[in-house]
Amino acid sequence: MTAAAGRPAGFLPVPLAQASRLLNHGPTVLVTSAAGDQRNVMAAAWSMPVEFSPPRIAVVIDKQTHTRRLVEASGQFAVCVPGAALVDLTWAVGQCSGREVDKFARHGLVAVRGPVLGLPLLEAGCAAWLECRRLPEPHAEDAYDTCFGEVVAAAADPRIFADGRWDFRPDNADLQTVHHLGGGRFVRAGGTLQARPPADA
Ligand SMILES: Cc1cc2nc3c(=O)[nH]c(=O)nc-3n(C[C@H](O)[C@H](O)[C@H](O)COP(=O)(O)O)c2cc1C
Repeated sequence: MTAAAGRPAGFLPVPLAQASRLLNHGPTVLVTSAAGDQRNVMAAAWSMPVEFSPPRIAVVIDKQTHTRRLVEASGQFAVCVPGAALVDLTWAVGQCSGREVDKFARHGLVAVRGPVLGLPLLEAGCAAWLECRRLPEPHAEDAYDTCFGEVVAAAADPRIFADGRWDFRPDNADLQTVHHLGGGRFVRAGGTLQARPPADA
């Protein structure tokens, strides 16, 4: 584990105009939700930005999940971007349902309160989060389990995301995002490549 994973997170707000960058590279995320006295967290490999301004995202949330029930009941959800140190947690919260177990209690998760919607957000071990107000799209939700949300607040750990950019370095490996290959195997982001401008530009 690198030093980055152990220290307090110290998240900083991400301007909404830059929020799409947090999901642009397709990290596996943790979807958090709450309704009434219940809160929950599940893993989701399928999420993406769909609009820059206002910032909007889509996440596949299967209609069988407890998360989906809480999202529909509350009209909101959050997406937290786990770092590599949380790979076991990410796998674990994708294997059981909040219908049967309080995953926050089971895994000793400490949530911070979202600034706009009050959603439970994970910062320790995470690189970023986005609070979202659900945009009801009944056809997409029903036919494709795809839920849309408008990002109303976002924040990131400045050790890995600053000035609108991810910065993957050897000293922040435990905060680097993870991408699900299937069957519990993940690849960690980190092999950054900078494309050169085309020769005729
Ligand atoms: C790595 C990983 C990625 C997953 N991606 C998705 C996804 O994109 N959409 C989805 O609906 N379920 C996905 N799942 C499955 C849910 O996380 C799983 O059904 C979970 O138990 C639902 O929890 P809940 O009932 O507490 O909401 C994924 C699971 C794992 C382990």
